[in-house]
Amino acid sequence: MKTQLCEDLGIEFPIFAFTHCRDVVAAVSKAGGFGVLGAVGFPPEQLELELNWIDDHVGDAPYGVDIVLPSRYEGEGEMDILKLTENLKDMIPPEHLAFTSKVLDDNGIPPLSEDVEMGSGLMGWTAATATPQVDIILEHEKVKMVANALGTPPPDMVDKIHKHDKLVAALCGTPAQAGRHKNAGLDVVIAQGYEGGGHTGDIGSLVLWPQVIDEVAPVPVLAAGGIGNGRQMAAALAIGAQGVWTGSLWLTVEEAAGHPAQIDRLLEAGSKDTVRSRSFTGKPCRMLRNAWTEAWENEDTPSPLGMPLQYMVAQECSTRVSKAPEVGQDVAFNPVGQVVGLMDKRRRSADVVIEMVQECIDSYENIDRLMSAVE
Ligand SMILES: Cc1cc2nc3c(=O)[nH]c(=O)nc-3n(C[C@H](O)[C@H](O)[C@H](O)COP(=O)(O)O)c2cc1C
Repeated sequence: MKTQLCEDLGIEFPIFAFTHCRDVVAAVSKAGGFGVLGAVGFPPEQLELELNWIDDHVGDAPYGVDIVLPSRYEGEGEMDILKLTENLKDMIPPEHLAFTSKVLDDNGIPPLSEDVEMGSGLMGWTAATATPQVDIILEHEKVKMVANALGTPPPDMVDKIHKHDKLVAALCGTPAQAGRHKNAGLDVVIAQGYEGGGHTGDIGSLVLWPQVIDEVAPVPVLAAGGIGNGRQMAAALAIGAQGVWTGSLWLTVEEAAGHPAQIDRLLEAGSKDTVRSRSFTGKPCRMLRNAWTEAWENEDTPSPLGMPLQYMVAQECSTRVSKAPEVGQDVAFNPVGQVVGLMDKRRRSADVVIEMVQECIDSYENIDRLMSAVE
């Protein structure tokens, strides 16, 4: 089942697994797929530890890393992290912080004890924070592809990654964004449909994928958004994708590091339980609907700020939830796609890969039977 991109990356199956969990990255790559570590939440020193761990546990298999460098964000241009943090803090209206505390109190989330220090909430999604991550990633030989969310990476970053003999990929939600990726010399385009988990646009996968494939040909396209089994994978390959880029699926595998209360929520959720909301990151992001997402939707409540300000606002939420995960799920940030409705049991990552491949093959055999019946 090798596509040209599989050949280029040296992998057996065209299954790409986005995850924040190093164990899942290693398990998927060792099973013949391509694990991709989401780096956005890791400060550089921690990222270095995570990548060293993967290098030690992935055998000879290749893997990828994903960064988040948006085309547009508040505070753009400032490369000094301390200055950027201070500038951004000054831009946060006090009413947003007060509203956050109120939503958490109203939902019975215990307050923080005095000794808990809250971080700034400035994640890896600015040039100032993503650039040091890239410098670390490039030192790791088994990393064969660097992907970017939310925009085309700047030309100097693309050159730098290419000089280290790694492919550059980026997500897109429209054919126009895909065209910009192609023009910037990117090697792989990931077309993420509306139903996908995390940041997502408003075009459905089945409509988006063929448009992006045609727009950027011959650049290979990975189909993302709503893929949870081998039948969907067969459909994506039939449309012309060179592989599937999956995210939600890996949140409930046995190797996933989520809190049991969070995993239970995901296993119980149906496809109607997600919403695209700006309430955590400032950009439309698909996640489980809960009291937090609903609170920010009311007309008489503050509108979410832009990226990265809104996550700085939501920092109190993340910190309070991390101290009380059992009760915190009613307000927790749980990015996941509509495919959550297919995720109803815990499986080993390697089993997920093998079952997807087998189901994909079965689908093609079905099609073969149909085609011979036509003759
Ligand atoms: C929990 C979670 C976090 C995500 N964070 C990122 C991210 O940091 N960078 C990124 O490129 N994509 C991110 N995504 C999107 C995935 O890379 C992928 O495109 C998406 O999950 C595919 O759709 P699916 O969830 O239906 O499989 C995230 C998805 C999930 C579920």
